Amino acid sequence: MKRTKISEIFAPELIGTEVSVMGWVRTRRGNKHVQFVALNDGSTIRNLQIVFDMAAFSEDQLRPITTGASIHVTGRLVESMGKGQTCEVQAQTLEVFGTADPETYPLQKKGHTLEFLREKAHLRPRTNTFGAVLRVRSTLAFAIHRFFQEKGFYYLNTPLITASDCEGAGAMFQVTTLDLNDLPRLEDGQIDFSADFFGKPAALTVSGQLEGELGATALGAIYTFGPTFRAENSNTPRHLSEFWMIEPEMAFYDITDNMDLAEEFIKYCVRYALDNCREDLEFLQQMYDNELIGRLEGVLRDSFVRLTYTEGVNILKESGHKFEFPVDWGTDLQSEHERYLVEEHFKRPVILTDYPKEIKAFYMKQNDDGKTVRAMDVLFPKIGEIIGGSEREADYDKLLSRIEELDIPMKDMWWYLDTRRYGTVPHSGFGLGFERLVLFVTGMTNIRDVIPFPRTPGNAEF
Ligand code: 4AD
Ligand code: MG
Repeated sequence: MKRTKISEIFAPELIGTEVSVMGWVRTRRGNKHVQFVALNDGSTIRNLQIVFDMAAFSEDQLRPITTGASIHVTGRLVESMGKGQTCEVQAQTLEVFGTADPETYPLQKKGHTLEFLREKAHLRPRTNTFGAVLRVRSTLAFAIHRFFQEKGFYYLNTPLITASDCEGAGAMFQVTTLDLNDLPRLEDGQIDFSADFFGKPAALTVSGQLEGELGATALGAIYTFGPTFRAENSNTPRHLSEFWMIEPEMAFYDITDNMDLAEEFIKYCVRYALDNCREDLEFLQQMYDNELIGRLEGVLRDSFVRLTYTEGVNILKESGHKFEFPVDWGTDLQSEHERYLVEEHFKRPVILTDYPKEIKAFYMKQNDDGKTVRAMDVLFPKIGEIIGGSEREADYDKLLSRIEELDIPMKDMWWYLDTRRYGTVPHSGFGLGFERLVLFVTGMTNIRDVIPFPRTPGNAEF
């Protein structure tokens, strides 16, 4: 008999039929006449109740069915008497695939803290919470591809190993095959990278944008969706050392087109999750965040406020609010500032533009004032910055002079500059931190809880 997934079993037409189900036992309870097993197979937050009539099964047969054990049951699907259940399976056959010793299996019935579950990241996908989060994450990934594919964007795969530092933050993980205990040296004592695998220093990418621009200025509009790596030592609930980023890049887009796309894109993803992950979101709302669904619907309803960095800083300075980090024109905004604008002042998402050039990357289009660049950050409730992007500097001379001002090694940049030498066009793009989107949509509060196996300073377990 073909297996039915639990996500499909609640279809009314299956009532009265024989079914075959497989999954992991969440709980078993009952008495010597009848035993009830709550079975979950990961396809849905819902458990399926299996009823064992103890006239047909022996105590010995059921003994291995403890929390965490994996089983295969066949039986008749019937309407359920129990409240909250629509149907249940009256077991006819039972096969135990694998037991789970109650003495050592860490996920017993009682609720565990998220901190505890982080230490058990190899098993936490089996919990209701992580099942829900990971299903939402997968659905959002699909929504992202759908959004861009429907719009005629091409999916471009940019390299993970690179010799250039896109963001100029210097927070890159080196990639080398040199023997760290016996490094080849030049005469002046420097490491001889010509002996390394790539013949020069290489690192894991912090962003696929620079190569994304090569794609956009050929295919018109592209997006990347892949892992990026940052070796910043930031131990916060919003930073990972390995995170996934979506980076659309579009020829013939100015900053306004870029903002319009960012807003439409996030709204599409949130709507898609509301339409396709309702049960998981309701569960997360009930468990962690009773305002979750309202907040998601709020984002769909409101248009995002757009203002300049300068206007934002003035609002913060005039607010009279005591911030941990003082704010003044020229300082980078901290998440407390971003959240104040979004949560207290405007009470809806905000797009800040035209940041001081000193706090933004070299590739952003320079404004005529000589002080600011055409950057845009999308700021979200509970999250702060969820998107960072800009219109790009399309002018060869201006770009070159910025590269020189910042002392970026030209030998790494010649290919990038060629886009401005040959058929340069106005173009724009942005990067969405995938985990920050998943954080927002699930209502979780720590980014370590929205990626299966988080990488953070000091932690690369699993
Ligand atoms: O603002 P960032 O650094 O921008 C870029 O990398 C550009 N190259 C993007 C572009 O224009 N194509 O990063 C973009 C987004 C941030 O807004 C944030 O959501 C996320 O990536 N992000 C992180 N997410 C998790 N952990 C980290 N350490 C992150 N750093 C950035
Ligand atoms: Mg940023």
